[in-house]
Amino acid sequence: MAASRSGAHSDGLPAKLARARMLNPRAWFDRGAPKIQLRRFAGTARHQDQLSSPICVAHLTDLHVGRVTPMPVQMAAVDLVNRQDPDLVVITGDFVCHSQEYLDALEEVIAAFDAPVIGVLGNHDHWSGAGEVRRALRRAGMEVLDNAFTTMTLQRERLQIVGVDDAYTGHADVARATKGLRRDLPILGLSHIAEESERLWPAGVPLVLSGHTHAGQVTLARLNELALGRLVGHRYIHGLYGSRRHPEPEGAVYVGAGIGAAVIPLRLGERARREVTLFELGYPPGAFDEDHTPQEALPGRPPSERKIQDRQVAVARKQARRLRKASKKGLFGD
Ligand SMILES: [Fe+2]
Repeated sequence: MAASRSGAHSDGLPAKLARARMLNPRAWFDRGAPKIQLRRFAGTARHQDQLSSPICVAHLTDLHVGRVTPMPVQMAAVDLVNRQDPDLVVITGDFVCHSQEYLDALEEVIAAFDAPVIGVLGNHDHWSGAGEVRRALRRAGMEVLDNAFTTMTLQRERLQIVGVDDAYTGHADVARATKGLRRDLPILGLSHIAEESERLWPAGVPLVLSGHTHAGQVTLARLNELALGRLVGHRYIHGLYGSRRHPEPEGAVYVGAGIGAAVIPLRLGERARREVTLFELGYPPGAFDEDHTPQEALPGRPPSERKIQDRQVAVARKQARRLRKASKKGLFGD
C-alpha cells in the first residue's frame, strides 16, 4: 500500500513500518482483526442434481483496496477466507476506488488467497482504468471474466463460471458471456450488478453472485432499502433473492455486502457488516441454517438508455483525463 503524501501510512503507521509490512503481507494479520461477517448458504437444487461432490465457493465483493479500506481489513478478509479452505474464491468487482494508486496493494491481496481466484470488474474499476486493473489482477494470478465463461475442475467436478462485465458503466454483454455454455454441467454466474441475473437465469445460470450496493452501508430501519431501492432503483439490495428450487427462467441472486467502501467507511446495522459468504454448491437449499430466507425483489427502476450512455461517456472522459495527465508527466519528466 502506498504511503500518503505526509509520509505517514494511510492507517496511521509510520512509512518505514508500513514498507516493512508491505514486504511481508502476512504481517498485516497481526493487527486487531476487523469484524467481518461470515455467512453460509447452500447452492441450488440444480447444483445438487449435477454435483456428486460438494464444491465450496467463497464470495467477496467490493474490496475497494485503498485509503478508505486499508490493508489490515483486506488481509483479515483474506485470512478469514483461507481459514475456511474453499475450493474457489470469486470476487464480483470494485477492486479499487478512484485511481490506480493502490494496484500494488491489490496485487498483494489477491495473491494472498490460497484457493484459485476468479472475478469480474465493477464500475469503480472501469472509472479507474479497466485495462490497468485487469493487468494487476492477472499478475496476481486471478482470472478475470469479461463477458466470458471458464470451466474449472474442483473436487473432481467440472464447474462453469460465467462472468458478466460491469453493467453500470454499460459493459455487460450477457449473450456473449453465455455463448457456448453447457446446460448439462453445473454453472455459477458472477456480475457486479445483481439485476443482470434476470438475463442470466434464462440462459441456464441458476445462481448469480454480485455486489455494488455495499448493502447500503446503513441497514438500520431499512434505510438501505429506501435509499437503494426507492431512490436509486435497485431491485436487489443485500442477501439472497429469488428461488434456488425453481427451474429456469427463474433463479437466485446473492448480493454481498462487500469488504470495503470507496468514499466513507461507515457501516451500521447487522446486515451492513463487511462480509465473506460461503456457497456450498451440491447441498440442497434447507440443508443447514442460513443467515436469512430468500427475499422478494423490490420493484426497482431500470436506468434509461440516456443514463447508460451518460455513464459510458463518463468512463471515456476519465480515461481521456488519465491519458492527458500521463502525457503531461512524460513531457515534463515528472
Ligand atoms: Fe463498490
